[in-house]
Amino acid sequence: MNNNEIINQIKSELDIADVIGERVKLRKSARGYMGLCPFHSEDTPSLHVYTDTQSYYCFGCHEAGDVFSYVMKTEGLSFPEALRVLSDRAGVRLPEAGHRGTDIRGVLDLAAKFFSSNLTGPQGAAARAYMSRRSLTGSDITRYGLGYSLPSWDSLTNYLRRSGVNDRMIVDSGLAVANRNGLYDRFRGRLMFPIHDVTGKVIAFGGRLVDGEGAKYINSPEGPTYSKRNNLYLLDTARHSIRDKKRSILTEGYMDALRLSKCGFPETVASLGTSLTAEQAGLLSRYADMCYICYDSDTAGQEAAIKGMYILASHGLDVYVVSLPGESKDPDEFLCANPPEAFENALTEAKPLVIKHLEFLKPRLDDQRTRRSALSELFGALRTLDIDDVLRHKGSISYATLLPSEAIEQYIISGRPPKTKPRPQKPASFVIKSADLGYDILEAAMCALLFKNRECRLKFTLEDAEKLLHSDITFETAAAILSSNPEDLYTLWRTSGDDDKLAMIYNGEELLRRMLRMDVEEKFSRTYCRLMWKSINRRIKEIQSMPFDDRDYKELSRLYKEREHYHL
Ligand code: UTP
Ligand code: MN
Repeated sequence: MNNNEIINQIKSELDIADVIGERVKLRKSARGYMGLCPFHSEDTPSLHVYTDTQSYYCFGCHEAGDVFSYVMKTEGLSFPEALRVLSDRAGVRLPEAGHRGTDIRGVLDLAAKFFSSNLTGPQGAAARAYMSRRSLTGSDITRYGLGYSLPSWDSLTNYLRRSGVNDRMIVDSGLAVANRNGLYDRFRGRLMFPIHDVTGKVIAFGGRLVDGEGAKYINSPEGPTYSKRNNLYLLDTARHSIRDKKRSILTEGYMDALRLSKCGFPETVASLGTSLTAEQAGLLSRYADMCYICYDSDTAGQEAAIKGMYILASHGLDVYVVSLPGESKDPDEFLCANPPEAFENALTEAKPLVIKHLEFLKPRLDDQRTRRSALSELFGALRTLDIDDVLRHKGSISYATLLPSEAIEQYIISGRPPKTKPRPQKPASFVIKSADLGYDILEAAMCALLFKNRECRLKFTLEDAEKLLHSDITFETAAAILSSNPEDLYTLWRTSGDDDKLAMIYNGEELLRRMLRMDVEEKFSRTYCRLMWKSINRRIKEIQSMPFDDRDYKELSRLYKEREHYHL
């Protein structure tokens, strides 16, 4: 069967009305059903489900598609993930990359059931005692699929063999390790946490030591079904809550995520024993734009939190760091000692990334011996963030770094703090004029916009260029772009060795790239407004520097009014 045939077979086995009807209350209509559209909020049904064509269409928001697009959009799944969910549901077997992936999933499923029955059975007493010491209950076993690996070298391996699994599969699934004498169980005497992929299939395990000596946690190795960087613990169940609550909570440990989930924060997930990856950030950003990161309270945890936040932020997420009040070392401990409301309060008081990073660096910023490295860490990191998110905190950055706020913008854009030792008593002395570039980077951004986009050229006149572009290079470049064709200019500049114009445009693009959440139109209007603001400011300063009797107060008040117009 090729892909299309599989898709068609799945569609013919399923009825779209059943799938949609699971979450949406459907009422019979002429060609099928209708109900309240899940893609926008409404009081009267405008979602139509057509059983003859197995499709849906919303007359309110115009969402339309088939059962695949429905599942992808409502569940936040990629196409391959939706394919897996729907093929399962339809009972259609996917060819996949060999049968290996599917078979390993089957083995992991068997193992999960075996571990669970150990935990509830007579041999699970020690593990159950451990669970109760950690305030976990019987219902958590079913809810989170917890289990127990017996303190034996081969109980799981034997069980799997008896169930008809060959040794090769047992090793490939990561559940046993092969040595000279044969196979032995990887997990022994541990409380088992199954890790699911986003569609809810078991793909790996984490096992916590219950008593005795050894590594605190052991995890499944990476393999055909499991890669740490592409998954998050509890995401399969948390994703629905993340979408509903429009926020996710990210922790470091299995137990932290489990505790939060259990205590009324089902939007919680945990990274899997590695530092947060770009892929994990991408997964979270599918479901909500806001993420609260709550790592351990020690310095290592806080450092990891900041690092993780920059990764999340570069995926367009709004991130906040939660600090736990009191002595608790991690969220699990905190919730064992405090009611859920106390955690909700900590969420309310969570700080945005920039502020948190400043706080974290403050001792190093204040110490002359570490100041320089702290500054370059700070500005290097800020450079990776959305420029507006950073500029919003310009005041705090200035306050924490003792650098004058007029200069902060330049440092943020260049990613480089001043080389000289700052002298707070004389702030004016280290204002960098237009960085070291010889032009204002915002002007370069405008040139880049004009160079690349026809719609920007149509909105920008030579008069604007005269008013807003103050250095020779930016003005000349813009004027050339406005009066001829950018492709010709590119060739001309390339061949005439006039590379500095292209380099300037390139620098401008760099700044535009950092306006992460904006389309070209927004980038243009932002840049335009900022340049206007600056240009009016410049004129205001000029007038203010004139002797009192020459000052034109009328113009001054007009300028103030005009400037307001460009306030961002
Ligand atoms: P922690 O050491 O903070 O453990 O490791 P924890 O989550 O608080 O565990 P408890 O409360 O003592 O049971 C955080 C995470 O790092 C990974 C695990 O994913 C763990 O949840 N880890 C830790 C390992 O993979 N191996 C280890 O030996 C320790
Ligand atoms: Mn812990």
